[in-house]
Amino acid sequence: MIELGVDLGTANTVVCNCDEGLVLDEPSVMLLRDRGRRGVEVVAVGTEASELLGRVPPDTIALRPLQDGVITDLYTARSYLRAIIRRLVPSPWWAAKAHVVIGSPTGATALERRALQEAAEEAGIKRVTTLDEPIAGAIGCGIDPLERRVHMVVDIGGGTGEVTAFCYGGVLAARSCRVAGDEMTLAIHRYLREEHQLVVGEQRAEQVKIRAGVEASASLTVQGRDAATGRPRVSTIPLDEIVKVVEPITESIIQTLAACLDDLPPETCEDVMADGVLLFGGGSLTLGFRDALERAFGFPVKMAGNPLTCVAEGAARALRSPGLTEAYARY
Ligand SMILES: Nc1ncnc2c1ncn2[C@@H]1O[C@H](COP(=O)(O)OP(=O)(O)OP(=O)(O)O)[C@@H](O)[C@H]1O
Ligand SMILES: [Mg+2]
Repeated sequence: MIELGVDLGTANTVVCNCDEGLVLDEPSVMLLRDRGRRGVEVVAVGTEASELLGRVPPDTIALRPLQDGVITDLYTARSYLRAIIRRLVPSPWWAAKAHVVIGSPTGATALERRALQEAAEEAGIKRVTTLDEPIAGAIGCGIDPLERRVHMVVDIGGGTGEVTAFCYGGVLAARSCRVAGDEMTLAIHRYLREEHQLVVGEQRAEQVKIRAGVEASASLTVQGRDAATGRPRVSTIPLDEIVKVVEPITESIIQTLAACLDDLPPETCEDVMADGVLLFGGGSLTLGFRDALERAFGFPVKMAGNPLTCVAEGAARALRSPGLTEAYARY
């Protein structure tokens, strides 16, 4: 039997097979071509689609299957999920025996969860379950959400930031905000143009954000076009300026975390104060983000060892633990 944990994210799709480990980690992008009366055809998905971005004819469009972590256009999401599942589950015979757990945002409505399930069922999958992404991520980091002790996790993805506290098989409090990693990229994009008169593409702005987190020196060199002359130019960008640029987004996430702490019963605060919170999701790797949270709250803020893959890994692990799926899975 094939058992898959799926993290269908706004930015990336990650799939973990219970027996083989990670089997897919690619951008959530799909290229569709309009074939006129013959309808719309899927040209490429994932890495292949993202590599073709910007070099396709006008009748081909690029789409992301999710917006802010949820399905907004059922047709796109279904075609995307079908294409991904067909790559991993080669024959309908296997699909009919497959069990898939898909992560969904905690705040997703029943309709939004149903859309995810329907999309996987259309790809021929026999059993499809959804699991809250923060719970899946926590399981993927080795936390047992059936424990009596309260745990709190912060998942900063591309489109959404989610803060969730849980224990003993249930969710105690959950808050989310619609600003996360992609908003940080946009802020850097704007800042380079306005403060350094340097025009770069969004992908270059994202690279700047990612490089800043691993840069050993105090500044970065960035290539772009001069806003006035249009000529190629290189600018040196101090890292502390990048930390400042993403501060307003970090501040919104701090407020979301504060609101979630307020929602918690007073008896449970002791656990959170002692253990702190666990961070995952790509956006949490941004330079200065973890430190800002620690400064704001004073409790430990730990970074997951596998921040980009823990949701899919946890979803897969939950498949093999009847107690976890019984407590947290939603159908
Ligand atoms: N090393 C890094 N440093 C900073 N940001 C990063 C890094 N790696 C990825 N990101 C950012 O993380 C975001 C994607 O994170 P992730 O893959 O967790 O999102 P997702 O699960 O697809 O989205 P969502 O959970 O919102 O649906 C993007 O904004 C990306 O730019
Ligand atoms: Mg995510």
